Amino acid sequence: MPTSPQAAPGIPHDAPGAPRDAPGIPHDAPGAPRDVPGAPHAAPGAPPGAPPGPLLSYEGLTLTYPATAGPVTALAGYTLAVSRGEPLALIGPSGCGKSTSLLLAAGLLAPTEGSVCVAGEPITRPRLTTALILQDFGLLPWKTVRENAALGLRIRHFSRAEREQRTDRALEQVGLLEFARAYPGELSGGMRQRLALARALALDVDLMLMDEPLSALDALLREGLQDLLLGLWQERGYAQLLVTHSIEEAAFLGRRIVVLTPRPGRVAAIIDNPGMGEHSYRGTQAFYLICQQVRAALQKSRGDTPAPTLQKSRGDTPAPALQKSRGGATHA
Ligand SMILES: Nc1ncnc2c1ncn2[C@@H]1O[C@H](COP(=O)(O)OP(=O)(O)O)[C@@H](O)[C@H]1O
Ligand SMILES: [Mg+2]
Repeated sequence: MPTSPQAAPGIPHDAPGAPRDAPGIPHDAPGAPRDVPGAPHAAPGAPPGAPPGPLLSYEGLTLTYPATAGPVTALAGYTLAVSRGEPLALIGPSGCGKSTSLLLAAGLLAPTEGSVCVAGEPITRPRLTTALILQDFGLLPWKTVRENAALGLRIRHFSRAEREQRTDRALEQVGLLEFARAYPGELSGGMRQRLALARALALDVDLMLMDEPLSALDALLREGLQDLLLGLWQERGYAQLLVTHSIEEAAFLGRRIVVLTPRPGRVAAIIDNPGMGEHSYRGTQAFYLICQQVRAALQKSRGDTPAPTLQKSRGDTPAPALQKSRGGATHA
């Protein structure tokens, strides 16, 4: 499954579905204007003085990849808004366009139709205060932990003193400061993931995009890192779009949980999860009920799209449920 725009061979730059720039974090052009946001706010939510409206919005978006074997429409009629400071979890079947939606938000892909806006502006290039953490972490094996964590700042021409200060703070937050001189190859999977996080944190972002960041980790390690992600979001207050395959992870880290249909992906259901935000949430009845709701919504979104061969062999017309699903239910 492709997770980076590099996987789109031979696509002209800036064609719909074309990669816009090198993937991975950091992703801003060298020499871009320094536009560092203010100090991170303690409580999640819209910072004082922030312009109204969502931080990230997709509006009637379609993304078709001009693939060699014929065009592939990954997302169609995709509409979703993420508020400033909001933690949102995105879940859906494999291949439904989750990674694609992150690449669009990061400004690494251009929509075929519709729009994707960040802070009210159509996003036409990678942005200084957006971080994208890809599944393979994007670490450079020949650089130390500290150099990897500082990479985004270096590309943005931050001064050495500021680089050191921000990098050390970020490494401390993820518990890696004592490994600053180690190399990624000397770290465990969980530590590598924390290093990828530190690199994004050092940038003081207001939009954190994460593509199944914990999927390679075993269950216990995963819970520990979920706790870390929750704590970092609470402290830094960025909007977070977390793609996950795990229902429990979505329920633990998403204030809203967005369930997508099978490809072409669009929003099948949005589940409000007001109880999230406490480390003890996992053990509660409310958590259990949210997981049940997400599971049901996932099943419904899959069940609403019968396999085409099944219809053909029975000579059926499309089931009413399928048409309903295409119209866009908002709740499970
Ligand atoms: N660069 C690409 N070129 C052609 N098809 C692609 C490309 N990237 C993704 N796709 C296709 O688009 C669909 C959505 O992909 P993706 O966003 O990676 O899904 P998900 O992250 O939900 O698993 C899949 O069918 C995938 O094969
Ligand atoms: Mg993916």
